[in-house]
Order: sequence, then C-alpha cells, then structure tokens
Amino acid sequence: MSETVAFPQDRTCPYHPPAAYDPLRENRPLTRVSLFDGRSVWMVTGHAEARALLSDGRLSADRGNAGFPAVSPRFKGLGGRRTALLGVDDPVHNVQRRMLIPSFTVKRTAALRPRIQQTVDRLIDDMVARGPGAELVSAFALPVPSMVICSLLGVPYGDHEFFEEQSRRLLRGPDVADVEDARTRINGYLAGLIESKRTERGDGLLDELVERRLETGETDVDELVSLAAILLIAGHETTANMISLGTFTLLRHPEQLAELRADPALITVAVEELMRFLSIADGMLRVATEDIEVGGVTVRADDGVVFSTSVINRDGAVFAEPDVLDWHRPARHHVAFGFGIHQCLGQNLARAEMEIALGTLFARLPGLRLAAEPDAIPFKPGDTVQGMVELPVTW
Ligand code: HEM
Repeated sequence: MSETVAFPQDRTCPYHPPAAYDPLRENRPLTRVSLFDGRSVWMVTGHAEARALLSDGRLSADRGNAGFPAVSPRFKGLGGRRTALLGVDDPVHNVQRRMLIPSFTVKRTAALRPRIQQTVDRLIDDMVARGPGAELVSAFALPVPSMVICSLLGVPYGDHEFFEEQSRRLLRGPDVADVEDARTRINGYLAGLIESKRTERGDGLLDELVERRLETGETDVDELVSLAAILLIAGHETTANMISLGTFTLLRHPEQLAELRADPALITVAVEELMRFLSIADGMLRVATEDIEVGGVTVRADDGVVFSTSVINRDGAVFAEPDVLDWHRPARHHVAFGFGIHQCLGQNLARAEMEIALGTLFARLPGLRLAAEPDAIPFKPGDTVQGMVELPVTW
C-alpha cells in the first residue's frame, strides 16, 4: 500500500529514483508517506503540484516551525536550528537573498568561466601526470567546485580539507553530537575569517559583504557566518556530486556519451538533462502554515510536506519517456534546483562548473572508463545529497 511507504529511501541504482517510490509515481500527485519516527507527511510527486506548492507562501521552510518534518534522528535532534536563506521565510529570506543576488547573476558567473576552465585544466593535467588511473571524486569532482567557491568567497583553499570534512559530517554525521560539533567548528572558522577580513580586505564575496553590509550595520557577524556557511557548503558538496555521478552516468550510457563526444556543443542541454535525470538534491522539506487545496487533497496547517525531486522530475505528464536519458528533450522545467523563492542561488555557477568539468574531462580523456565493476562502486545513501562516495576510473 502506498500509504506505508517510508521516506526517505535509498536508491537501488545511483541514477534512478528509489524503486520503493515506484507505486507512488503512478497514483496521485500527493501521497501520505511515513517518516522514521512514525509521523505521516505528504510526499509530492506531481510536477505541476510541486511547482505550485514550492511557490506558495503558505508553506514554510523555517525549521523552527512546529511540525517541520524531521527525516532522520540526526535531523530531529537539531530541531529548530535555523540556517540562513534555506531555513528562513520571507521577509528575512528576501533581505538575505538580495544581499547575494548580484554575485550570482548569469553575467557575473560568465566572467568566472576562464578561471573555472583553468582550474579544470590544471586538475586534469595533474591526473594525467600521475595516471593512468585515478579516484575521480578526490582528484577532480570535489576539488573543482571547492576551488571555485573558495576563490569566489575569498576563503583560503589551503583550508579545504578542514571544511570539506566538516561539511561531510554536517550532511552525513553519525549522530546529533557529531553534527553539532561540525557546525561549531565551521562557524568558528568562518567567524575568525570574517573578523580577519575587517582589517585585511581581499577581493572575495565575503570581503565585499564585510565592507558593504557588516561595517554598515546592515548585517551582523552571526548572520554573515550563517550565510558564508551555506554558500561554502552548498557551493561545493552538491556540484561535486553532480560531477561524480554525472561521469558515472555518462560512462553507463555509451550511446548518449558518444553523441555528446561527436557534438560537444550539446554539453549545455546535456547538463540540464543530467540535472533532471539525476536529481541529486532528492528531498526538499516544508511545513504548511495554513490549509492548502492542491492536487485534489487538502494539506492541513502543520502538515509536513516532502518533495522528492527524482520522482517529480520523472513525471510522465511533463517529460515523455522520463526514465530515458535524452539530450533532445526540453529538460529545462525540472525542479532539480528547486522552485520558488528558495530556488538555487548558485545555479548559474553550478551549470558553468558542470559544463566545463564534464565537457573538458571527456574531451581530454577519450579512453575514460570505470576501473571497477559498476555494482561495486559505493554511492551515497538516501537521506542526503546523492552522489558517488568514490569513483575509480582509468583511461
Ligand atoms: C549542481 C549543483 C547544485 C544543486 C543540485 C543544487 C540544488 C539546490 C536546491 C534543490 C535548492 C533548493 C532547496 C529547497 O528549496 O529546499 C538549492 C538552494 C540553494 N543553493 Fe543550490 N544547488 C547546487 C549548487 C549550488 C551552488 C554552486 C551554490 C553556491 C553558491 C548553491 C547555493 C544555494 C543556496 C544559497 C541555496 C538557498 C537559496 C535560498 O534559500 O534562497 N547551490 N540548491
């Protein structure tokens, strides 16, 4: 019975939605599912309903709200902890977002392309010099976005092992104490960095925010730390997963890969289709603050609402043959970057990074292939951002 399906589920294949959601894909656009603590919440699977709800001000992203759904014991233990942007509603959200928008426009991102290309080229040079053979997550997929976000924010890349580790613990730590410790460490680190920028200004976004917003009293250190943390974490972790899982997926789809190699200009639409197909941020969470009529049901005030992007992005009413990876479909209406006021702030940057990273990788290493049996390559579990834990390759 669909009512008893638990959320979230692990994927059985790293690039397909969890098989356990299959029954939900066929029935209604919203279904009741159960969380680990036995609570029943709405899971949205319909594309039209997802877009309507994600742009509906009666749904709150504020974790401090009673009834905000907790998807794991770890998450529940943190109850009420707010993060900037993603964890606040308007009007606070709007004020925070407006501080950052100018740095993430299409134009500003386009100006970063040469630097992204340089980073990608250098990392591939290093791999080639050490190869053939590499573990692609640590040699390429993680350093590309990590270096890019460091340079954009003005965070020293020399500290990357520290913040990548804290970020891993924040997203996948074994228990609440571990997650709290990671949060304290990363916040402490960023507070120190921001403090140092008050006297010694560099040319990153954090330096700009210190000068234009902190020194003017428009924001305070706590808010700036929280904004810096979400940018730093969201800025490397998600894109790294798209690069690793995108590479794995292309290597498992030789026809589509051959087509892409024959026509490299396809990379732009290919990245969009990979975003839809992989839907790596596979669980957006909200709580209703009022009753909402949608998709033939009433979502009541205080009901939890979860969005599985992998299922929504395979809604057959919007995407024909949704389980097929196809560069020629219009994929752009996917919700893999979210929708509504919280839609991904870094999406232009992420697109540029993915296009350059995947395009260059496959162009420079024509013999690129997996160096292990596909089934033996570990991928990440279901309650967090999807991606490969490791990706052994050779060429
Ligand atoms: C392929 C990579 C990425 C994916 C799949 C992704 C996905 C998402 C999704 C689904 C949301 C909406 C979450 C929700 O509504 O609950 C989001 C929000 C956000 N993302 Fe990304 N993201 C990516 C890359 C980035 C990058 C590179 C940055 C960096 C700067 C970034 C920064 C943010 C921020 C700050 C938010 C919160 C926006 C707000 O609440 O207004 N993301 N992202």
